[in-house]
Amino acid sequence: MKEWTREERYKVLQSPEEIRELHERISKSVYRQTYHIQPVTGLSSDPNGFALHKGIWHLFYQWCPWGAVHGLKYWYHVTSEDLIHWTNAGVGLKPDRDYDNKGNHSGSAISNGEDLYIFYTGNHRDENWVRTPYTCGAVLGKDGMPEKLPEPLFGLRPDYSEHQRDPKVIWNEEKKKYFIFIGAQTQDLRGTVLIYESSELLKGWKFAGELKVPGYEKFGGMWECPYIVNLSGTDLLIFSPQYTKLPGRAESTNHNVYLLGHMDYDTLTFTPETDYQYLDFGFDFYAAQGAANVGDPDKAVLIGWIGLPDNHYPTEEEDWEGSMSLPRELRIRNGKLIQTPVAEIDSLLGEEVPADGNLPAACEIRVKPADAGQDFDLALFTKADGSGGLRMHYDAEKKLCTFDKSGMTKRFNPQVGEVLTMPLAEGLFSIRIFIDRSSVEYFFNEGEASFTSHSYPTEEEFHYTATPGAEIRIRKMNPSVEDTFVV
Ligand code: FRU
Repeated sequence: MKEWTREERYKVLQSPEEIRELHERISKSVYRQTYHIQPVTGLSSDPNGFALHKGIWHLFYQWCPWGAVHGLKYWYHVTSEDLIHWTNAGVGLKPDRDYDNKGNHSGSAISNGEDLYIFYTGNHRDENWVRTPYTCGAVLGKDGMPEKLPEPLFGLRPDYSEHQRDPKVIWNEEKKKYFIFIGAQTQDLRGTVLIYESSELLKGWKFAGELKVPGYEKFGGMWECPYIVNLSGTDLLIFSPQYTKLPGRAESTNHNVYLLGHMDYDTLTFTPETDYQYLDFGFDFYAAQGAANVGDPDKAVLIGWIGLPDNHYPTEEEDWEGSMSLPRELRIRNGKLIQTPVAEIDSLLGEEVPADGNLPAACEIRVKPADAGQDFDLALFTKADGSGGLRMHYDAEKKLCTFDKSGMTKRFNPQVGEVLTMPLAEGLFSIRIFIDRSSVEYFFNEGEASFTSHSYPTEEEFHYTATPGAEIRIRKMNPSVEDTFVV
């Protein structure tokens, strides 16, 4: 594996020509995705600035152009009319100011109907590499390029650690105010959220206080990428706690969790009505962000990063890695969060192929076990003789799915664990799976739980096995992302 120097990781991109060949090379990789957003070159991580604006979905991703490494971060811009067919729009934000000299880190966007307002973290470092984060603004210009404000909106609060970033902006109709939630860490290294308020988007921001979440005063060491939305009268708070191990997550110290409850904007208290839950139970899912302005009080649309901060993936040797998850719809059903792939995904469904043990490289699989009260096994990406693969076993008595990826030829991140478990509230009655060239996403029981992971099957591993008696339908998925070089 290549060792990157700081100079290499933080090199400024002067011209697209510097990475054209890299793009040509990686676009030939057998692991390039066909209906998932992926980096034009190098590394993609968090989804950023996700919003519906004038009928167009805008999404940016954290992008390091040079290779599969976390270094100087840009925002790369993609757009879509339907959340499924995405077009590369080029660099959205680049580190061209002193206050963001070492990267444009994560953030969000909001549309007021006329303009799209972008809030991001300017990651400044001085010559001694001491970090100062700034919360910065930009407005999408008529040419589709964000124009940065001349100055940051506000700087760091010295009574918290340097970890203050990932502004999530929201409008609160009751208070007639905008709020920004910032992922943060206290000086005694506890994860938290800082809240700012203003009646205008581009000025007047003042610190309102620290978010209080009773019962979660000591829960992880930094809460990255906070997101809050009200769904059918219930508040949903999503964040990515770090520096902590959590039950059922093996050795991983990065997680994406959610709480359902009530947010009081007077006391800045989020009162959970449930225990925390994992947003996704898979090996690789993080920093998820919901889109602003979806126009439906009962629904949010969310995208996550298929990847984890400290993980390494087999395409690293090809100088790229990362992918966005499929956009999913979030709703509340019987007091629970339900996540399903957006309905528009059906437009990609192609030819049905026989469920004969072979797997197309990009497909949708619908599985109905014969009896929700019985154990059930499903192994994807096995060899022709049924050995190896990504194996799932459902224990009906415990209502627990166990996933084991150690049988795959290309193994990765064994140090954080190759076996994970996922409890279900109901017996296992349905699975909907989306396979692309280097990812797999499972949705269980019509949205009760999801499991997202990278997977890199070799040519011999396009087979599956399942407990007999199950109803299985496989349809090929048509491509919806073009691997174009737009920078
Ligand atoms: C989450 C994160 C964010 C940060 C960004 C930098 O993966 O660490 O907190 O803004 O990535 O790329």
